[in-house]
Amino acid sequence: MTTSDVPEPMQEYDDDLIAVLEAVWGEGFMSPGGTEEVDRVLEGLDLTGLAVLDLGCGLGGATVHIARQYGVESIVGIDIEDNLIEACVELASGAGLSDKAQFLQVEPGPLSVADTSLDMVFSKDAIIHIEDKHALARDVFRCLKPGGWFAASDWLAGYTSTPSPEMRAYIEAEGLDFGLASASIYEAALEAAGFVDISVTDRNSWYRQEARREQDNMKRALYADLQSTVGKEFLDHQIDVWEKMIVVLDLGELRPTHLRARKP
Ligand SMILES: C[S@@+](CC[C@H](N)C(=O)[O-])C[C@H]1O[C@@H](n2cnc3c(N)ncnc32)[C@H](O)[C@@H]1O
Repeated sequence: MTTSDVPEPMQEYDDDLIAVLEAVWGEGFMSPGGTEEVDRVLEGLDLTGLAVLDLGCGLGGATVHIARQYGVESIVGIDIEDNLIEACVELASGAGLSDKAQFLQVEPGPLSVADTSLDMVFSKDAIIHIEDKHALARDVFRCLKPGGWFAASDWLAGYTSTPSPEMRAYIEAEGLDFGLASASIYEAALEAAGFVDISVTDRNSWYRQEARREQDNMKRALYADLQSTVGKEFLDHQIDVWEKMIVVLDLGELRPTHLRARKP
């Protein structure tokens, strides 16, 4: 992996958005479920002594949890945003895990990772930002050693062709660069890349309930503190994003999902 080409700083997740996401989802997390959801993604896998990559590590909550709890040899978190990588380095250092958990800012596109150098590629709710699932699956396959695992959570589309007006309204309200795809596209991409033992676990019914609890928290327990940090207008907008998200979770068009596959 190299850092020789210094990428332009990118900031899709700015300070205000990060403040809201971390308040709702916990320190170091920009996705739901905290360490328990990370544990579900990895359930039954033995990571002892493994070299792991965390693709789209965000603020590093999952990366640091894996470094602390799973006996890995090393874990490298990569992300495209420099502000997030700085936060990750701080989080790992505060946890005394800087030797095990390292972080790199990268450019979007092919992974700067040597062929057959990793035992596992982990990712939590980041692949939604990567449009071409086939190219990504081929690249992950290339980086893994034989027997290596891809273990991820991501936000998938519950529709195959066109999103409903409600889904379009949700995506527009998020304002993030989403490249949503259905489970069948992910499965086809993993299979075409050469993966075996592919499994897909739908988490829609869990998150439908969880998202309601999160939104309630934003409106009540978290409101005053967050309002003073990010301002009323931004916070109310985020509460509205959650409202729109709950609609599309209920419609089944947004489907948080766990994905797993093995390189033979
Ligand atoms: C929803 S956040 C999840 C972050 C973290 N995995 C977590 O669970 O808290 C998605 C992350 O993916 C990152 N990302 C987007 N495109 C990426 C790419 N091509 N390569 C690496 N990271 C990317 C974003 O910057 C963001 O930090």
